Amino acid sequence: MASGNDMKSHWQLDPQLDFLNHGSFGAVPTVVLQVQQAFRDQLESDPIRFLAPERELEPKLDHVRGVLADLVGADDRDVAFVLNATDGVNAVLRSFPFVDGDEIVVTNHGYNACINAAEFAAQRGGATVRVANVPFPIRDPGQVVDAIDHQLNDRTRLIMIDHITSPTGLVFPVAAVAELAKSRGIRVLVDGAHGPGMVPLDLRSLGVDYYTANHHKWLCAPKVSGFLWVHPQWQREVRPTIISHAANRPRPGRSQFLAEFDWKGTFDPTPILALPKAIEFLSSFYPGGLDQWMQVNRNLAIDALGLLSSGLGIEVTTPPEMIGSLVTVPLPKPENANAGEVHETLQSRLRQRYNIECPVFPGVQPNTYLLRIALQAYNDLDQVHRLVAALRDELGLS
Ligand SMILES: Cc1ncc(COP(=O)(O)O)c(C=O)c1O
Repeated sequence: MASGNDMKSHWQLDPQLDFLNHGSFGAVPTVVLQVQQAFRDQLESDPIRFLAPERELEPKLDHVRGVLADLVGADDRDVAFVLNATDGVNAVLRSFPFVDGDEIVVTNHGYNACINAAEFAAQRGGATVRVANVPFPIRDPGQVVDAIDHQLNDRTRLIMIDHITSPTGLVFPVAAVAELAKSRGIRVLVDGAHGPGMVPLDLRSLGVDYYTANHHKWLCAPKVSGFLWVHPQWQREVRPTIISHAANRPRPGRSQFLAEFDWKGTFDPTPILALPKAIEFLSSFYPGGLDQWMQVNRNLAIDALGLLSSGLGIEVTTPPEMIGSLVTVPLPKPENANAGEVHETLQSRLRQRYNIECPVFPGVQPNTYLLRIALQAYNDLDQVHRLVAALRDELGLS
């Protein structure tokens, strides 16, 4: 049974559940949901005034854009809103001017949906996708750069990498990859789905061409919302995944880039509008604000990694600079049983028998399985102790 702590009371999570999967869809604090509901009430009381871009919507979006741009170290004019990171990745890939023979490099730690988007865009443009094989477990961030470097050639146009990888929970060395790419004249698209709220960001100095992220993961904003940052050099080229009015009706005083992304047909802007409340909430707990919040989560993750390592008898090699607040370990082989069968059903058994929610993924190496836990402020180490005990039972570890 989940133990209580003060933080948990701010979320609506089931107190009986050990929820160790903030990484998939996030979880929204009650105060943020209340602010979102207040926006919904305003919208429904006067829909045209609220939703027509030229009346209240554009100024409201611009306010949020300013708050977000400050947080991620960007200029307002470079930040567009998207539904989610999948949407942002698709917008970049499907706008990219690929020609026959071009190549895109991704990694074997990439998110399946985004790799699919790369394959789709590549096929349409006569390009191909190459996969850089980054080892896991990993010992050095340089292994990421080397694996990518190995796949580059004079046909490579774009590198797509995760900032924090989904199955393996690693903080990838994005700035080093950007430096490598720049020296070869290759553009870099970062899938930063987990970035904001987990690691500090300064997009002006990161050296990448495109960065997309979710607000609904580590910033704890309502589902569904995210952003796409595009370097000014490429903004005329990048079109949203939905083409709407602004394609032939420019908005006075706004770039075509922002005008097109601001209105992609009727939508619910309230998740975006509630984002400043989420940022304010996360920033209000510690004197060091959101930076300290992220550091506290990361420290919890490091402690959790230690517990998993000692409890399951696995060596952890992840260098500290690659640890954020997602922690992944390779699952040890069960005693007296077939690993595939035990591991494939482990996630549902953890939920059904122990009320623990955390994902199990196939590993990046064949016949290996990974367990990932997310450490958000509402989590505590008691939950990790219970997870370790459950895993020891299920894997028959003596
Ligand atoms: C690295 C990464 N990229 C993209 C996504 C997709 O996020 P969304 O479904 O919100 O677009 C996820 C979701 O977990 C992710 O982990």
